[in-house]
Amino acid sequence: MTAERDPSAGTDSDEVPQGAEPAPGTPVSVRAERGARMTPAEAVRDMRVTIPVRGNRTLRDLIDRVNRDGSLKALWHAANVNAVTRMQINDHSWVHIQIVTNIGLKLLRELRRVGVEPGMVRDYAMSQEDAEVVVVLGCLTHCLGMAIHRVSHEEMSLFLAADRLPGLLDGLYQEPERTIVEAEVLQTIICHRSDGQPLSLEAGVVRVADALDMAKGRSRIPFETGRVSIHSLSAAAIEEVRIGSSEGRVRIEIEMNNSSGLYQVDNLLRSKLRGSGLEEHIDVIATIKGETEKRLLPDFRL
Ligand SMILES: [Fe+2]
Repeated sequence: MTAERDPSAGTDSDEVPQGAEPAPGTPVSVRAERGARMTPAEAVRDMRVTIPVRGNRTLRDLIDRVNRDGSLKALWHAANVNAVTRMQINDHSWVHIQIVTNIGLKLLRELRRVGVEPGMVRDYAMSQEDAEVVVVLGCLTHCLGMAIHRVSHEEMSLFLAADRLPGLLDGLYQEPERTIVEAEVLQTIICHRSDGQPLSLEAGVVRVADALDMAKGRSRIPFETGRVSIHSLSAAAIEEVRIGSSEGRVRIEIEMNNSSGLYQVDNLLRSKLRGSGLEEHIDVIATIKGETEKRLLPDFRL
């Protein structure tokens, strides 16, 4: 996530996940604030989730359906109004959803590249494509509950998602597989809370992907409202997040402009990574780059 780019741009065949690496332009938090001030109709019109579906037809049909779903989009808008207008916390708009979804898909694919089997394959003899559907739906619905309230939003996301999943999956899966997909998606939702305990790789992926939406520009809202804390300061210190794999392990590189960013990595990301089931396959490497700060620490490995 270098800088910002239009999260609605892109094609389904891109190697680089859209939204996960926003390009130069308006900070996404500005889009989130602008979106929160729009009428519901205007806000919903601005939303379009794009992901690299890479030949996964079920995923392609699902995303088409999501992009036509006014109710789902209305919930994303309400979540953003609560987060940005009413609470002045970080962006919870569809831009957050778009970024987390792309990171989740990227993480799942990199894990596959290094030989890690998702729960849908290992435990249900279903396919990698089905695991992608679970991760994408989990990312798309994980914070729907913010539309109601921040407190216990993970639990509330469950019933809002449970209402909508049958319609989103209708015709894409038959029973009993459709219900398996729904149950697995609901697991990803409940496991993103602070004490969540993922039982599947997919749930771990959604949990970690949510925590990785931390790159440049994501923290501007609390900063500009004067709510400077180690949370906002450290978030502002994250320049870029890169996800790749080498030598049989997934590698998450976090580039910081200031050592305060270490709080994001050592505290927030560590707590999401712990118990995710992903720890044994992932290296997190944080580096400080640039001349703007005295180098206070060498490379830091989690
Ligand atoms: Fe989230």
